[in-house]
Amino acid sequence: MNDTIIRTENLHKTYTTGKVKTHALRGVDLEIPRGSFSCIVGPSGHGKSTLMHLVGGLDRPTAGRVFIGGEEITGLSGRRLAALRARRIGFVFQFFNLLPGLSAEENVATAMMFAGVPEKVQRDRSRELLALVGLSDKLRAKPSELSGGQQQRVAIVRALANDPDILLMDEPTGNLDSESESEVLAAVAKLHGEGKTVVIVTHNGEIARRAERVIRVKDGIIVEGY
Ligand SMILES: Nc1ncnc2c1ncn2[C@@H]1O[C@H](COP(=O)(O)OP(=O)(O)OP(=O)(O)O)[C@@H](O)[C@H]1O
Ligand SMILES: [Mg+2]
Repeated sequence: MNDTIIRTENLHKTYTTGKVKTHALRGVDLEIPRGSFSCIVGPSGHGKSTLMHLVGGLDRPTAGRVFIGGEEITGLSGRRLAALRARRIGFVFQFFNLLPGLSAEENVATAMMFAGVPEKVQRDRSRELLALVGLSDKLRAKPSELSGGQQQRVAIVRALANDPDILLMDEPTGNLDSESESEVLAAVAKLHGEGKTVVIVTHNGEIARRAERVIRVKDGIIVEGY
């Protein structure tokens, strides 16, 4: 049985803005074992978010291939890719991306809406998930009424709404104070303990120390780890 859950093969990404070309990724070969906790580090602007977006099927590479659980996703149609994402991948972005007009509970429920989950189930599961991260008393709170750490915990459980086996996080503690950061870290450690594959981009030394594998990206390639 193949226990590599994420694999990339000679991944390239070039962004073109007017006449300027940015080679964000220049040949990345990555292998992430199922159930592992990996951390991606490296200087600003060197391709970490780009790599996460390609692995998560949010964007397409200029060249190279991405495999999720042995299935190549690079050639999938937009619709099939969206379906695979909804089923298998939870994404927490670099900046909070909760919908400002919706409550914590509604923000979590939206993830299930796109997967066609009945409304009653959406509501029950949203409450259950928010309870898991200690936010039962904040179901009705809007993002503006939550602290940074609380908002990020909502974003994390929203990423878990459809029970994905892969959790991709792009600097989930980037904008947090140390207490909120510990809350988020505890939530992440728990998920890894439950068998999820976790990949985190971070500048945070504490997370990097806890991770089983550290992958260092520099100038669009992996210079350490694999
Ligand atoms: N949509 C885009 N269009 C054009 N250029 C882009 C786009 N997204 C990223 N880039 C460029 O690609 C390079 C890599 O960006 P990326 O966001 O992957 O860096 P990063 O390692 O995540 O940085 P940070 O640590 O600051 O988040 C940068 O030079 C950036 O300016
Ligand atoms: Mg980034």
